[in-house]
Amino acid sequence: MSHPAEGPSPDPRGVVIGPLDLAARVDDALAVQALAFGLTDDEIGVRRHIVLRHLATPGARALGATSETGRLVGFVYGLPNHRAHWWSTVVAPYLRAEGHEGWLDDSFVITELHVHPGHQKRGIGRTLITELTDGAAQPRSILSAIDAATPAHGLYRELGYRDLARPVHFPSAQSPYVVMGAHLPLRRRRA
Ligand SMILES: CC(C)(COP(=O)(O)OP(=O)(O)OC[C@H]1O[C@@H](n2cnc3c(N)ncnc32)[C@H](O)[C@@H]1OP(=O)(O)O)[C@@H](O)C(=O)NCCC(=O)NCCS
Repeated sequence: MSHPAEGPSPDPRGVVIGPLDLAARVDDALAVQALAFGLTDDEIGVRRHIVLRHLATPGARALGATSETGRLVGFVYGLPNHRAHWWSTVVAPYLRAEGHEGWLDDSFVITELHVHPGHQKRGIGRTLITELTDGAAQPRSILSAIDAATPAHGLYRELGYRDLARPVHFPSAQSPYVVMGAHLPLRRRRA
């Protein structure tokens, strides 16, 4: 006995995940980041310039999670790592000290991943980072996260990222960070 044909069912999360024109939606994205991660108005202004500069890098890519009303509720972006980039110059000595400097080559860097607090814990963050890295030309991925037992750190570990160097201190940040790396594709959720 077959069921009657059904039309496409709405995503249970009520969002569509797909390519994002982040340059066009940068203010919406930073508003999500401000709520999820906490940013002052001054920091938003600084981040805006940084994001737009990153997007001019060859190979930079972004995905967004958009609600049925068109509201951006999550985003991720990243770019092929380059040793001359500011982030790389900061983390390189820490990776070198641990014998992991080679991770700076042939790696796709996850620069930002944020989900609006009202939409967290529904699998959106996992889908965003998994789909973005699935499209990377590089065989591995690196990122930095706050060095604490946060949801982000838990997610990254579940996806197969391991700690490469910690604590890592960025000049502009008060909290220590951990640099993590994973071979691609990222690990899928166990059935
Ligand atoms: C990190 C973040 C993007 C995760 O997004 P999300 O959509 O809530 O994550 P998901 O629902 O896809 O969760 C995936 C996994 O992450 C982990 N996770 C998510 N929320 C968690 C929580 N509150 N506590 C512990 N682990 C958590 C779990 O392992 C979860 O897997 P599970 O659903 O099988 O339990 C989101 O929490 C966020 O925006 N945080 C604030 C901003 C931030 O820290 N960004 C990263 C900067 S490095």
